[in-house]
Amino acid sequence: MKAGEMYRIEGPAKVVVRRGRIYATGVEYSDGQSFTVLRARSLAVRAVTDSEVELVLGPGALLEKAEPGEEIIDEWEAGISTVDPSGVIIVVGMIDVGKSTMTAMLGNKALARGYRVAVIDADVGQNDLGPPTTISLARLTRYVTHLRQLVAEKSIFLQATSLERIWPRAVEQIARAVEYARRVWRADSVILNTDGWVLDEEAVVFKRQLIEKIKPSLIVAIQVEKELAPILNGYSNVLILPPPPHARSRSREDRKIHREMGYGRYIFPPVEIAVSLDKIPICNLPIFKGIEMGEELRKILSRALGLGVEKAYQVGSRVYAIVEGDTWVVRKVSGFQVIGLPHDFERGLLVGLEDAERFLVGLGVVKKIYYDKRKAIIYTSSDVEKRMGEVKCIRLGLVRLDDNFNEVEKAMNILKAESE
Ligand SMILES: Nc1ncnc2c1ncn2[C@@H]1O[C@H](COP(=O)(O)OP(=O)(O)OP(=O)(O)O)[C@@H](O)[C@H]1O
Ligand SMILES: [Mg+2]
Repeated sequence: MKAGEMYRIEGPAKVVVRRGRIYATGVEYSDGQSFTVLRARSLAVRAVTDSEVELVLGPGALLEKAEPGEEIIDEWEAGISTVDPSGVIIVVGMIDVGKSTMTAMLGNKALARGYRVAVIDADVGQNDLGPPTTISLARLTRYVTHLRQLVAEKSIFLQATSLERIWPRAVEQIARAVEYARRVWRADSVILNTDGWVLDEEAVVFKRQLIEKIKPSLIVAIQVEKELAPILNGYSNVLILPPPPHARSRSREDRKIHREMGYGRYIFPPVEIAVSLDKIPICNLPIFKGIEMGEELRKILSRALGLGVEKAYQVGSRVYAIVEGDTWVVRKVSGFQVIGLPHDFERGLLVGLEDAERFLVGLGVVKKIYYDKRKAIIYTSSDVEKRMGEVKCIRLGLVRLDDNFNEVEKAMNILKAESE
């Protein structure tokens, strides 16, 4: 490669620099150093000097020369090389604009300065560090070309694959993750990647509240046109950069498949465990903390609801009733707020098994709750099974999966029954 030339590489590929210097994701690689481009990902590289490069291209890999002025990596480099990457940097932008790539690049820059670096991926839909539906955190101790090369050291279960209905809790939990990285890991630099939900009014409120809460030292905004203006309005610590013109975009279906593989990867090898819900309660549904109603009260309840009631538990002024059929019921009955959960409501729910600090021990999928035995049967990984001693509660998610970890529906009704 001649000095100044740029190429786009689509993985899987390995790039070994034999002689010279090659720039990729904020880093210059020289004699003998190498980096990889993951499958189904692409990356732009530039020869800093005349260089000799060995390329190992895997199945489906591509190498393409970029025309002058066609690539934005110099613009990105110029933009971020002037800023001090200490403090908290938040990366915002729509889907497929290069947020994850930018996050990796900023992490590399901070590492090159000798900072202790933490990366937080708060993209619940397409998380690069940990399982889907989580905020995940890792320390960066070597250069990466993709965020996916890092492995989450801590994760927080956010229950859903999009934050639309639950963003206030995302604000709280992302702030907690930032605080953890700063306080426990003593990170000088925290790079926070966010989800691509930016276009509607509520997304704007969410992103702005997040910014207010974590008070980033810098907002890196990857903007296609002017779509981030409502989020950025009034802030001065903003660096606006364009997206890569040749970024790979993925369809909704691709993203879903990617997540489904994610569930399968993290619930592996799968095991089935029986959990006593008295010992390890459900965090966000206090059924078994209540008083079980006897037959007489159940009959009265059943008449009021016009539905068969299998079980009912009184928790303060709320009554949780397991009702026949498959519709959710929320109704006031003689001063009680009655929540009717359909008989099969738990089947296939994604759950987070959480430790005493509300970090995720691992994901699971509920098979069944046996009310008489006060037990839940859960599919999880054998790693989680070994760590069950750490699990303090089971948080119900808002995603329903089938036996093959395919997403079958959003279980938003759980929000009606949640207690926290
Ligand atoms: N300069 C570039 N040229 C071509 N492709 C690139 C470039 N930079 C990144 N890409 C590729 O574009 C795709 C999108 O980038 P990236 O994953 O960083 O975006 P994202 O905003 O995090 O997307 P998502 O919404 O899926 O999380 C990836 O496949 C990435 O490898
Ligand atoms: Mg991403």
